[in-house]
Amino acid sequence: MKVGIVGVGYVGLVSGACFSDFGHHVVCLDKDDSKIQELNSGNIPIFEPGLYDVVKRNIDANRLKFSTDLALHIKEFDVIFVAVGTPARREDGNADMSSIFEVVNEIKDYISYDQLIVIKSTVPVGTNRIIYNMLNDRGDISKYNVASNPEFLREGSAIEDFMKPDRVVIGVRDERSKDIMMSVYKSLFLRDFPIVFTDPQSAETIKYASNAFLATKVSFINEISFFCEKVEADIKEVSKGLGLDKRIGNKFLHAGPGYGGSCFPKDTAALVSMGLENKAPLTIVEATINANQLTKKRMIDKIRKVYNGALYDKVITVLGITFKPNTDDVRDAPSLTIIPALQRDGAKIRAYDPQGKKEACKLISDIDWFEDAYSAAAGSDMILILTEWNEFRALNLKKISSLMKNSKLVDLRNIYSKKEALDCGFDLYVGIGR
Ligand code: UDX
Repeated sequence: MKVGIVGVGYVGLVSGACFSDFGHHVVCLDKDDSKIQELNSGNIPIFEPGLYDVVKRNIDANRLKFSTDLALHIKEFDVIFVAVGTPARREDGNADMSSIFEVVNEIKDYISYDQLIVIKSTVPVGTNRIIYNMLNDRGDISKYNVASNPEFLREGSAIEDFMKPDRVVIGVRDERSKDIMMSVYKSLFLRDFPIVFTDPQSAETIKYASNAFLATKVSFINEISFFCEKVEADIKEVSKGLGLDKRIGNKFLHAGPGYGGSCFPKDTAALVSMGLENKAPLTIVEATINANQLTKKRMIDKIRKVYNGALYDKVITVLGITFKPNTDDVRDAPSLTIIPALQRDGAKIRAYDPQGKKEACKLISDIDWFEDAYSAAAGSDMILILTEWNEFRALNLKKISSLMKNSKLVDLRNIYSKKEALDCGFDLYVGIGR
């Protein structure tokens, strides 16, 4: 099949690369000339494990191209995926839909009835219908068709998630659109990955409900971890015992400093606002958002307590800035709330993150950056682990503690145990929920 992808952001690029790996001929389009030039010269503008190899092998096989010229290519495609960004608007937190509508208005002039448009960007429920009506405002008997195909890609494992999904969700209005989408996803269908066909509104809702549910699970376990601290229970034991119940499942039960990233905060806020607009308040999701804010505040209190609230001039070495490992994304990361609060208390912040420095520098300042955990730790008063990068799981704690001025370890991902830390020369270990 001939597949066009409009928008080479994270979702567009991963989807385009993977569709070409399924054997389709793909052109990824973007109006940002510098991005397209970068891709055409073999550079990947984002950090995503495995993406470079998939892009390279499909460019070499002549199945994947990048271009800025929508008008030139659009007639070639059987199916056109719209994967442009829908960032939360600063004023009200609702999704900014201007890029989506811009693209639809642009393609409207070129497409024919047999081409299928698919909305892949995360869009408010009802957007598919608005776009369908926008395209079919000429009163013709034939109709342009619009499908919804939300993505469930996790940053850091996006290629794996695309190639081996738990499910693919597709919202369509007619059999012809269904057939086209079946051909697009034939490679997954043949390998028995579940493909859920439904109507567009349900597909759009599944996306929000999935992310809100997962965010709720994280907020839930974070609140239970606080409770564990008060009653001297151990959150690791509790998560294990809880997760073994198949109805609950063991995923997303790791207590931490709060969820972040480009999806959970934005999608939960959007769902709450859609609930209010539709007079169907989503009080559980609202509570999830509040609990996440509270979790971050509790983390700040926990850190302050190490020095009885006196952080002035204390040197804190932060290990991990990104919202989770294996990504360079720091959007809405707990670090963005926690670090400025510590700085306001007068602490001096040093940091090391395997990938996050470049993005973090755009959002937080006055940080001394280091290229490894050991040089960052030397002479400091506290190690603060915020992200569970693999390399932080195997630190030489003895070496770290001997390098520090005051050997205190605050581990907000529960990577280590109190015993391990004390055995390795730390005089204080603080985890969460135990
Ligand atoms: C998420 C969804 O998983 C994905 O399906 C969707 O399409 C986009 O949003 P992503 O934002 O990449 O993906 O991150 P994810 O791995 O889901 O983690 C989200 C946040 O929850 C992170 O901040 C992570 O640290 C936190 N988390 C996750 C926990 O604190 N504990 C857990 O047990 C799991």
